[in-house]
Amino acid sequence: MRQKLAAGNWKMNGTQDQLGMLAQVPPSQPGCEVLICPPAQLLIPAVQQALGRLSIGAQDCHAQAPGAHTGDLSASMIADTGARYVILGHSERRQAHGETDALIQAKAAAAIDAGLCPIICIGESHAQRINGQALDVIQDQLRLSLPDHLTQAPSVIAYEPIWAIGTGLIPSLDQITKAHSAIRAHLRQRFGAPGNDVRLLYGGSVKPDNAAQIFACPEVDGALVGGASLSAEDFGPIITALAAA
Ligand code: 13P
Repeated sequence: MRQKLAAGNWKMNGTQDQLGMLAQVPPSQPGCEVLICPPAQLLIPAVQQALGRLSIGAQDCHAQAPGAHTGDLSASMIADTGARYVILGHSERRQAHGETDALIQAKAAAAIDAGLCPIICIGESHAQRINGQALDVIQDQLRLSLPDHLTQAPSVIAYEPIWAIGTGLIPSLDQITKAHSAIRAHLRQRFGAPGNDVRLLYGGSVKPDNAAQIFACPEVDGALVGGASLSAEDFGPIITALAAA
């Protein structure tokens, strides 16, 4: 039985005053974990203020061991903050930082080796969706960005269609179901039975008013939430909908 996961990706938002919302968010409960991924400067105070009620994660890590990489954080440094997760390969990093599947695979391997749970993001562009290439794109990203030892530790995959991020658009429930089913089939084929343990999140314009129907889709174990995770008023009902799903 996979534990559900409501994950908030704050992206490049938040100074210390934003941490007040951590006390207002419904806490993790058996069967439904709540995770906040703040920007890096808030990791340590977030871990301290979450008091174990919530899990805390980072939004990126470097693939290499500590060394001469100005401005970067290694997976071991992230783990040292008390964070337990790290988002990798978000489309904003793939696009704005030129991150390739091979780099994301190396980062995921480093995260696992540091004891972190990677949340590996995949998803097609609007043009790829329109051209009927969505499932092929997903398969390629899975094949190239997942490390071979993915299932030796807990891991998460987030399906985030690029055209649904921050736009208010979401795929049809049928499109979400088909994408998640394809991801699960890939995991089973490549990793065998342990492929069933990887949690699959949907991400892209998840809001209080669409969360319940998304969570009712097969193989959707939770959500990776951007804008709506910045306020307890919006994130709270999403967490409640997931716990009830
Ligand atoms: P929005 O929920 O703001 O669309 O962002 C989704 C996302 O990119 C989460 O990683």
